[in-house]
Amino acid sequence: MEPKETARPLPVRTAIFPVAGLGTRFLPATKATPKELLAVLDRPLIQFAIDEARAAGIERMIFVSHPSKSAIEKYVLHDAELDEQLCAKGKTEVAQKLRANALDAKAIDVRFVMQDEPLGLGHAVLCAADDALPGPVAVILPDDLILGDAGCLSEMIEAYERGGAGHMVATMQVEADAVSSYGILSVTGRDENVLWADGMVEKPDPDEAPSRQAVVGRYVLDGSIFDDLRNQKPGAGGEIQLTDAISRATPRVGLSGFRFSGQRYDCGSKVGMLQAILAYANSTTEFRNVIEDHNRGLLAAE
Ligand code: UTP
Repeated sequence: MEPKETARPLPVRTAIFPVAGLGTRFLPATKATPKELLAVLDRPLIQFAIDEARAAGIERMIFVSHPSKSAIEKYVLHDAELDEQLCAKGKTEVAQKLRANALDAKAIDVRFVMQDEPLGLGHAVLCAADDALPGPVAVILPDDLILGDAGCLSEMIEAYERGGAGHMVATMQVEADAVSSYGILSVTGRDENVLWADGMVEKPDPDEAPSRQAVVGRYVLDGSIFDDLRNQKPGAGGEIQLTDAISRATPRVGLSGFRFSGQRYDCGSKVGMLQAILAYANSTTEFRNVIEDHNRGLLAAE
C-alpha cells in the first residue's frame, strides 16, 4: 500500500510491554523467574526494553503482567529499602546504578495492568486500552532484544511521525527457509527504511511467502487498534492475535514495515539468548577477553 496523503499523526506517548506470557520455551528457567527478567549477563531483558522506550521519549509505560509475575513490578520500580541497605554498606555506586535503571514515577507515568489468563498477544495489548494516552501506541516485546547504536523504537517513531501509515511494524530480512517461523510482510514499495505493505501473512510456506521481511517485536499502532482488538476473534492457537487485528485494519489505516538498524535476538529461545549474551559480552573489553581466552583454549585443545 503506497503512503496515503494524511496529516502527520499524533505523537506516540504510550508504550505497552506485554509481559504476561508463560515463557514455555525457556522452562524450567521460567518456572519461578519471569522470562522478561532473564538476564543478558547482568542486565534483565526488561531493562533493555525500558531503556529503549525511555530513549524514545515515551511518557507512559504500561506493563501488562500476570499476578504470578510480581517480580517484574519489584524489578521495575525503585526499591528504597535496598537502596538504603546498599548505601549503608558503602556500595553507593551500585545503588546509583539501580536508581538510574528504575522507573522514577516523577519522570515517567508507570502502570501495571493484569492479564489474568495468557489469551494471546492481542488480548494482552487490549488489556492496556483503558490506560493508554490518546493517539498511537508503541508495543515492545522485551524478549525480542534489539541491540544497536540507535534504539529501535526511537528510529521507528521518527519514521512513523513522518506519516503515511497508521500501523507500523518492525521488520528484518530473513533467509527463505526461515519465513515459516514469522509473520511476513506483503511489500508493495519502499522509501529508504520504510516498506509500504498491503498486508501480512502469518508463517507462510517459503514458496508462498510474499517477501522475506519478517515482523519482529516492535510495533507503533494507530489508537483504533483497541477497537479492532475488542472485535477480534481468536486465531491461531485459540489466541487473540495482534497480527490478525493489524491485518484486518490495513485497508483502513495503512501498514508499513520499518527496517531497523540494530541486530535482533530472539531471547525467548535458548539459541537467541546465547547469541545475545555472546554479542553483548563481545561489545565490552572485560568480557571480550573472556570469550577470546575461551576460544584460544578450545583451539589449543584441538
Ligand atoms: P511469546 O509468545 O514469545 O511469549 O510472546 P510466551 O508465550 O510467554 O513464550 P513461549 O512461546 O511460551 O515460550 C511475546 C511477548 O508477549 C507476552 C509475553 O510475555 C512476551 O513478552 N504475552 C504473550 C503476553 O503478555 N500475553 C500473552 O497472552 C501472550
